[in-house]
Amino acid sequence: MASTHVASTHGAAQVLVASNRGPVSYEVQEDGSLRARRGGGGLVSGLSAIGPDAGALWVCSALSGGDREAVRRGVGEEGVRMLAVPAEVHADAYNGVANSVLWFVHHMLYQTPLEPVFDAGFWRQWENYARYNRAFAEALADEAAEGAAVLVQDYHLTLVPGLLRKLRPDLRIGHFSHTPWAPVDYFRMLPDQVVREVLEGMLGADRLGFLTRRWADAFTACCTELAGGLGGTEVGVHGLGADADFLRARSHEADVEKRMATLRAEIGAGRKAIVRVDRTELSKNIVRGLLAYQQLLDDHPEWRERVVHVAFAYPSRQDLAVYRDYTAEVQRLAAEINSRYGTPGWTPVVLHVKDDFARSLAAYRLADVALVNPIRDGMNLVAKEVPVVADEGCALVLSREAGAYEELGEDAIVVNPYDVLGTARALHEALTMPPHERAERTKRLAAAATALPPAQWFMDQLRALTG
Ligand code: F6P
Repeated sequence: MASTHVASTHGAAQVLVASNRGPVSYEVQEDGSLRARRGGGGLVSGLSAIGPDAGALWVCSALSGGDREAVRRGVGEEGVRMLAVPAEVHADAYNGVANSVLWFVHHMLYQTPLEPVFDAGFWRQWENYARYNRAFAEALADEAAEGAAVLVQDYHLTLVPGLLRKLRPDLRIGHFSHTPWAPVDYFRMLPDQVVREVLEGMLGADRLGFLTRRWADAFTACCTELAGGLGGTEVGVHGLGADADFLRARSHEADVEKRMATLRAEIGAGRKAIVRVDRTELSKNIVRGLLAYQQLLDDHPEWRERVVHVAFAYPSRQDLAVYRDYTAEVQRLAAEINSRYGTPGWTPVVLHVKDDFARSLAAYRLADVALVNPIRDGMNLVAKEVPVVADEGCALVLSREAGAYEELGEDAIVVNPYDVLGTARALHEALTMPPHERAERTKRLAAAATALPPAQWFMDQLRALTG
């Protein structure tokens, strides 16, 4: 497959990370120049922790026209190799298989009377998923030094460990899943060939990492039932935590303070804020969150005019119609609640859909209650971030289906995410939590949430793989 070097180590990389989305993306400007944007996240912190001289290389895919143009022009970042996977191959692998099938399976999102349907179109996409995984395996084989450590990320790249193992038996290969893993009965909805190839691909790794024990056990059960066991592959749990130092410093910068003033005005003086911040993935359960808030206003009219639901729902994966429709439904329901309950001086739901990190931190600081109610989630870092940042501490309403529940469940108010009435009751309980209890719980939540910050999370995995 056509793939172009931007920064090649020529077989000298000692530590390699492979992921669909890389740490940088490019946009073609009106004058034809390229603008680079750098991203954050756990892997970026992790790689910076090993230092610039560690011989690290990040292999990622070109995602946009701007990225492909950067590869074509030979523009790139030190330590990043972007693969110019053809757009149609990437679309089938990313939108078709990874986001519309594997994501749906691991988050149990299908409405099974009608879906999934594995037809001829699916098998074309699967071919391209395999091709895309091969492009990664070949690039990694090409770049890795003798005995190097390779850390492959996520459901986009499940076949890479197995393919790479065949090309380079000398490497130490790890794979980390940032999502849940499906229970056996759900996982085997996939065609048998896909089940076999995914599990064989993953089991090509020396070590597999998961965010919680629950997801690790689900994977192990799939291997026991469907692949004759784990073979020699080790399975470990690394619960990614929030980065306290970064969050505390960043949330006190001037742009955040400015957005706090705007948000305070939107909320109105003396009112409590129920805050949620999500990338609008289908698993986040924003619609039921709004229904629960509406139920709260019905069951407890005393909260009308005294509380505001601040909901930031940032669009993601907008190439997929079902994601666009979901965002539209969130907007429709928020508008309906506002028109039904709102008064001239009170807007019950303040919804923003344009991504703004500084504004998210401002909302975290102002939160009285954080609502995190996903129907299923690998971890959910928002649940870990709000207690660290909230100025007055916050009560956390948390779904028992979020990975974060394993570490935060004891000090959160726990909900069944499908139970709208139960969630409304939890919101009321959170709003009326006595201040000293809220402060105590927040302290414990923040401590649990920051137990494994990103740099340590990454280093632990690396040590476990190479040690
Ligand atoms: O929400 C978590 C997650 O699924 C991660 O597993 C992954 O890193 C990321 O989302 C991928 O998101 P995107 O499709 O925007 O690249």
